[in-house]
Amino acid sequence: MADETNLEVRLKRRPGGVPVAEDFDVVEGPVPVPGAGDMLCRARYLSLDPYMRGQISGRHLSGAVEVGDLMRGEVISDVVTSNAGRFDVGDRIAFRGHWQSWQVTDGAEARLVDPAIDPPSLALGILGMPGLTAYAGFLHLAEPKAGDVVVVSAASGPVGSMVGQIARIKGCRVVGIAGGPEKCRWVTEEAGFDACIDYKAEELGPAIERECPNGVDIYFDNVGGDVLDAVMWRLALGARVVLCGLMAQYNTDEIPPGPNPATIIKARATVRGLVVYDHEDKRADFTRDALAWLAAGKLHYREDVTEGLENAPAAFARLMAGRNFGKMVVKI
Ligand SMILES: NC(=O)c1ccc[n+]([C@@H]2O[C@H](COP(=O)([O-])OP(=O)(O)OC[C@H]3O[C@@H](n4cnc5c(N)ncnc54)[C@H](OP(=O)(O)O)[C@@H]3O)[C@@H](O)[C@H]2O)c1
Repeated sequence: MADETNLEVRLKRRPGGVPVAEDFDVVEGPVPVPGAGDMLCRARYLSLDPYMRGQISGRHLSGAVEVGDLMRGEVISDVVTSNAGRFDVGDRIAFRGHWQSWQVTDGAEARLVDPAIDPPSLALGILGMPGLTAYAGFLHLAEPKAGDVVVVSAASGPVGSMVGQIARIKGCRVVGIAGGPEKCRWVTEEAGFDACIDYKAEELGPAIERECPNGVDIYFDNVGGDVLDAVMWRLALGARVVLCGLMAQYNTDEIPPGPNPATIIKARATVRGLVVYDHEDKRADFTRDALAWLAAGKLHYREDVTEGLENAPAAFARLMAGRNFGKMVVKI
């Protein structure tokens, strides 16, 4: 080990736009020495993930990687020296480490890589964090049922391909969105999706209408931007949308205007569309409760009353200009 060097990758500068290799420094350092309670591990696989783009621009919820810092990432490593107690020499473990060939960790958050996972790199992909994202996001947030029409973007990636394949296993019709014929062919022929739209070759909106003539029951979004917009206009009644990722905006310095899916992802928020006509069955409860609150002085109101039906058009114009104050009614 003494003659080994520790290759490590540090952030050299914050990228502008799509990162380039020159944004990073690859340097050699000494193999670290584990302290009491630590393990020395030899890294075997490093996971590269889109969230790292957010870390190096300083806007990811896991925190920023500063210029000069070691890049962070999940690694699969073999334990070489163990003073930690939790794992033995020779164990293969996965943990959130760094872009380094040798890693020191106390193993507190490490997990043993199941030897059944072959190749072990799958523990970073479809059987790791991206796979769990798909599994939890689809099965627990999207509430799928057999026969649902599911659309998923970035369909050839670990998250998207797992969402689509789990959806197929659950009896859904699955339409992927991916960039280019090679990815689309893999998505249908290997991953078994029912269809895949190449958004680089045809306009997305009409293609979604062709593949999902009755609308989209579940949309699992990995991209945001124009792709999200195109699918949102084609949701079926009662659709569920899981906002997972924002590939379309990770490389931009300026946040696009309008409500941003990032706010929903960050807050794990639930957003529901409301149409009052669906809630007629609650009218009796509502009237009972509201009358009681009114009688108890707990409700206050304002009315903006216009006299005469002939004045209704002008009153309506006032309402739509925001110049009303209180509930607009016309006294006839
Ligand atoms: N919410 C969470 O906890 C969580 C966890 C894991 C991952 N994610 C998110 O899930 C998404 C997919 O992750 P993954 O690991 O499976 O990645 P991935 O699909 O392997 O790679 C990202 C893909 O995004 C697509 N893409 C669409 N628009 C793009 C653009 N403007 N620039 C670059 N790529 C674009 C590309 O595929 P096409 O060419 O097919 O468009 C690209 O291959 C990411 O947004 C990631 O951040 C979220």
